[in-house]
Amino acid sequence: MRGLQQGMADLKVEIAGLKFRNPVLTAAGPTSRNGMTLLNAAAGGVGGLVAKTVSVTRADVPKPNMSAFGSGRVESKRGILNAELWSEISIEQWLEKEYAIALSSGLPLIASVGYTPDEVSAIAPRIVEKGVHGIEFSTHYVGEHAEIAKALRESVDVPIFAKISPKADVASVAKAVEPFIDGIVAINTYGPCLRIDIETGKPFLGSEYGEGWMSGSAIKPIALRCVVEIARTINKPVIGVGGVTTGKDAIEFFMAGASAVEVCTAAILEGNTVYGKIAKEINEWMDMHEYKSIEDLRGLALPHLAKGVSLRPPPKVDLDACTRCGLCEKSCVYHAITVNKAEDFFEINSETCEGCGMCVSVCPYNALSIE
Ligand SMILES: Cc1cc2nc3c(=O)[nH]c(=O)nc-3n(C[C@H](O)[C@H](O)[C@H](O)COP(=O)(O)O)c2cc1C
Repeated sequence: MRGLQQGMADLKVEIAGLKFRNPVLTAAGPTSRNGMTLLNAAAGGVGGLVAKTVSVTRADVPKPNMSAFGSGRVESKRGILNAELWSEISIEQWLEKEYAIALSSGLPLIASVGYTPDEVSAIAPRIVEKGVHGIEFSTHYVGEHAEIAKALRESVDVPIFAKISPKADVASVAKAVEPFIDGIVAINTYGPCLRIDIETGKPFLGSEYGEGWMSGSAIKPIALRCVVEIARTINKPVIGVGGVTTGKDAIEFFMAGASAVEVCTAAILEGNTVYGKIAKEINEWMDMHEYKSIEDLRGLALPHLAKGVSLRPPPKVDLDACTRCGLCEKSCVYHAITVNKAEDFFEINSETCEGCGMCVSVCPYNALSIE
């Protein structure tokens, strides 16, 4: 894609020997469900490919199985509940056709496999024979992380990535799989969750009990916390996944300790050009802040995430950037902010301000800050 590498920043990353042109990868899901969708992602500027999870049998998927939530237009959607399971395409078709189509992109291709130790060690060597460069395994339905990792390590010699569920004790799982794997992918969807259509009283999804698994912006804070815990616990690359929609989301993951990110929900909601858009935004942000490589950003936040709490002074306001819109006044539960647009007045009462930080997060103009 043009425009991805024009600035000073170098977006190329190498993870467990796999070389990616940029750190934005596909994630296992409907946008990686076959060779053509993976080629489509490549055309949209993705840095590397992760295919939909395959297992020994095809999945029998409930319908409907996806429902976006959040207010209004698609850009304001916060996430998706899904009940999609693993690939509906047989392993034979993946081996005969789909991986070859994806490999024709020239990008590194990681296959996702599930679920038991016996199942993954039966299919992974056949996948690697087709030229696939790495294996990610999902523990979504089983949880025997170390046993699966060991079975894979004994059956293939390409890089192995463990994809972790946010419901697990992620630090313990990372430690348990560390001897067998080359990297960790965090996180899978969060759930089970539920949504009800109040016009019909029925669930939106056609799955058992109407339950689904949550992805998208809503789970990004969970994913970031997991990435930090893993990055602190083991010394292997971490790939962050969960709610990456913009370049700034990805930067947050790099600062948390990730070497790359995977994107699923944003690609469902916005289409295949979202990968290139995110890569371009990463590049622009890095140029603006004079970072030269993803490695320079990786883990920058970790020293600030220490045990214990810090007492911070009230926020400062940049009166030139402030438009007196009053959003901060509205969300100040301590009534410490007074704004009057007509009189061009802005005041923070340092007696009543509790330093909670809410105003900083709601200001659309970055006019408020806490040192
Ligand atoms: C419809 C859908 C299907 C998914 N299928 C898989 C899958 O087959 N295997 C897997 O490991 N993760 C699967 N995921 C999880 C995503 O790969 C990803 O971990 C999760 O959605 C969080 O990333 P996101 O917020 O960018 O979507 C799926 C997610 C969605 C929304």
